[in-house]
Amino acid sequence: MIAIISDIHANLEALRAVLDDIGDRNVEQIICLGDVLGYGPEPAECMDLVMEHCPVCLMGNHDCATLYEPSNFNIGAEAACYWTRARLENESDEAVRSKRWKFLGDLPVKHAIDGSDLDSAPLALVHGSPRRPINEYIFPDDIYNNPNKIRGLFDRVEHLCFVGHTHVPGVFLETPDFYSPEELEWVFEVDPDRKAIVNVGSVGQPRDRDSRAGYVLIEPNTIRFVRVPYDVDATIEKVKAIAELDDYLGTRLKEGR
Ligand SMILES: [Fe+2]
Repeated sequence: MIAIISDIHANLEALRAVLDDIGDRNVEQIICLGDVLGYGPEPAECMDLVMEHCPVCLMGNHDCATLYEPSNFNIGAEAACYWTRARLENESDEAVRSKRWKFLGDLPVKHAIDGSDLDSAPLALVHGSPRRPINEYIFPDDIYNNPNKIRGLFDRVEHLCFVGHTHVPGVFLETPDFYSPEELEWVFEVDPDRKAIVNVGSVGQPRDRDSRAGYVLIEPNTIRFVRVPYDVDATIEKVKAIAELDDYLGTRLKEGR
């Protein structure tokens, strides 16, 4: 069994809860689709846990922004990005500081893994989309507002592609269609003859009105969506204690948006 996590956003309380949940299951490998950093109060601690537990972690737009420069970020996200960079730069242990920056600089933008458990060609993994792996959003509304975009994205998918980035979990089909985890009753049955783009949701900042941390499990022939409750109030207090982080980055977690 493989666990795929994404969009931790420096929320250590949520990441710990998810790693504990994964630890209780028969998971052989954990893969992270990026955005370990940004928005949240504990970026360094989250990076250290990801380095320890995830043999593969991809580059998210917030990781990239911390490494280079934020672009097209709102004011709160930009301020959080600069605070995150300062937090990493101010680490007093030089070996720890260098290890974290090297990890960030070495993050790949895409990855493929064996898909035999799902009777699939190799599984494609990116943060955003198969066309622009770091930055492109695939929104559920795109199936109505921009169906050609969805079809164009599917042209680049061999069978299954896993994404994060929007923080909204669910499955896109080529029709185009979108199914939330609730509509799927939390399990997506893989059909070898039908392509799918699977959004794994977000560990640290879900935006589907469910405050619980989210991730997916790859089981034989199925993809299971999992939600894990965590101490949201603890994260909110940590955000409030850091002047550079907008309080809204904490309070939004309560509503899952
Ligand atoms: Fe994100």
